[in-house]
Amino acid sequence: MTARLFEPLTLRGLTLKNRVVVSPMQTYSAPDALPGAWHRVHLGRFALGGAGLVMGEATAVSPEGRSTADDLGLWSDDQERAMAELARAVQACGAAFGLQLQHAGRKASTTAPWQGFANAPIAAGSEVLGPSAHPASEGAHLPRAMTTEDMDRLVAAFAEAARRADRAGVDLVEIHMAHGYLLHSFLSPLANARRDDYGGSLANRMRFPLRIAKAVRKAWPQEKPLACRISSVDGVGIGWTLEESADFAKALAGVGVDLVDCSSGGMTLPERGMLVPRAPGFQLPFAAELRRVPGIATIAVGIITDARQAEAAIASGQADLVALGREMLENPNWALQAANALEPEQAYTRWPVPFGWWLKRRARASR
Ligand SMILES: Cc1cc2nc3c(=O)[nH]c(=O)nc-3n(C[C@H](O)[C@H](O)[C@H](O)COP(=O)(O)O)c2cc1C
Repeated sequence: MTARLFEPLTLRGLTLKNRVVVSPMQTYSAPDALPGAWHRVHLGRFALGGAGLVMGEATAVSPEGRSTADDLGLWSDDQERAMAELARAVQACGAAFGLQLQHAGRKASTTAPWQGFANAPIAAGSEVLGPSAHPASEGAHLPRAMTTEDMDRLVAAFAEAARRADRAGVDLVEIHMAHGYLLHSFLSPLANARRDDYGGSLANRMRFPLRIAKAVRKAWPQEKPLACRISSVDGVGIGWTLEESADFAKALAGVGVDLVDCSSGGMTLPERGMLVPRAPGFQLPFAAELRRVPGIATIAVGIITDARQAEAAIASGQADLVALGREMLENPNWALQAANALEPEQAYTRWPVPFGWWLKRRARASR
């Protein structure tokens, strides 16, 4: 019997071999914003480990859009060439390769998490941008409120990065609209205090992220799927709501977005108690709700660590795909082991043949 987790999924012209996604995870390991051997081995492990879709980490579309000086970028020919090598490495190991396009907005120019996300010096010629001149948290860099010219430039930068991703052989692009970064900060009333056409009503707050989605869809081939990661809610009883996410998902479907990756949070909240409580599968209800939007498939993410939990999420129709982040860091072979657990009678058949052939025989000999 085939586990539902291991059924293929076709999105436009891309068929994923199963429903397991490696969630985008920044490693802040890219001097000059270039992916290198480290990224190829790091992401290649997940591909060899059986995931259907391996997402690369948040990749800035412009230099000032990086969270740290060691974020990946995709605004130059060198970066495009290096990204093509990364795409080939992941695909050669058996997975589709997705790339998350990003602008960090108010959260740009910081140190890495393990250095405390502190303010880093803003590079010469760079600046921190946001919808309004309000910092992401107390003491964080004060952003400059973006002008419509800034918006036009970034719409073009996202579209150009999508064209580069296509030329690099990337299979799926995801636009990062979550976690308090630039596009989320336009959506959320907690960050957006604009009084022009880009602030105030939901329609106005959605306007800039939708312009980006539309431009990327136009630049990105019709046969390739487009995803957006959103923060489904800002928190409990505050800020951006799930109802707004459903309206936004409808609008995203209207501009040709296929998939919504349903995360949450990322805004600094007045009280810790307002954070969505963390528990296994805590964001699954968001994916289930947004999946009701016609034309939208969903990715569920957040403390999904167990094969049966992931299988249930797909089998019950809560999500089309499940993404794992930290669990993959712990165990890059998670997908292969999940296949053995869910389909014991076919153990090792989904493993790369040069491993599976041996391991099947060892299992028989150990019985
Ligand atoms: C090391 C690390 C880096 C992350 N970087 C990103 C990122 O680049 N883009 C993003 O959307 N989310 C990022 N996240 C969030 C994850 O994609 C994921 O949503 C989150 O870790 C919850 O899933 P998990 O419980 O399976 O880890 C990161 C998480 C971790 C642990």
